Amino acid sequence: MKNCAVFCSGFGSNLQALIAAVNRGRIPARIALVVSDCVDAYALVRAKKAGIPILAVDRSEFKTREDYDAYIIRRLKKQAIDYVILAGYMRIIGPRFVSCYKNKIVNIHPALLPSFKGVHGIKDALAYGVKITGVTVHFVDAELDAGPIILQGAVAVKADDTEDSLARRIHRLEHRLYPEAVRLLVQNKLSVKGRNVLIRR
Ligand code: GRF
Repeated sequence: MKNCAVFCSGFGSNLQALIAAVNRGRIPARIALVVSDCVDAYALVRAKKAGIPILAVDRSEFKTREDYDAYIIRRLKKQAIDYVILAGYMRIIGPRFVSCYKNKIVNIHPALLPSFKGVHGIKDALAYGVKITGVTVHFVDAELDAGPIILQGAVAVKADDTEDSLARRIHRLEHRLYPEAVRLLVQNKLSVKGRNVLIRR
């Protein structure tokens, strides 16, 4: 059985959806570690409740991002982590980390990439006036929110949507889409050809 580490900086609702999918046997893998750069992230409470080991690392204790990444990589290797699942992790993964886990790091983004990259995907889509937005699960490469796309799902924007109401529907979709993408990943059903991800179902 493969080992996943889930990286979170905040609330951890996607972590919770992944834990539930693992417990239901929908994802045939172990969440062996939850990593956070934020010692008081609620995601860590969720991990503890689920009996998952945690690693909370304060970035300010490291001189450079490379040192911080190197420390995390060492810890992941020690725990024999096969896959890295970013779920609301607010730090950029450096090039060395990306190459150590090539095509083994995935991220979820609350917009239809390549539109609305960055930390305000929901707000920016709403402000732009799009009628359709959604969710993207993608592999992580050296560029922000730019790696090959695994799955996407659409969400219609309503005329009276606020950031909160739209976010609620986006998160609901995330909680279905991410477990499905992680299942495909750990079952080795994904192959990357340039920008394209081929899925064997
Ligand atoms: C999600 O909207 C995800 O798309 C983005 O960060 C948010 C994390 O939410 N990358 P949560 O911490 O999983 O509730």
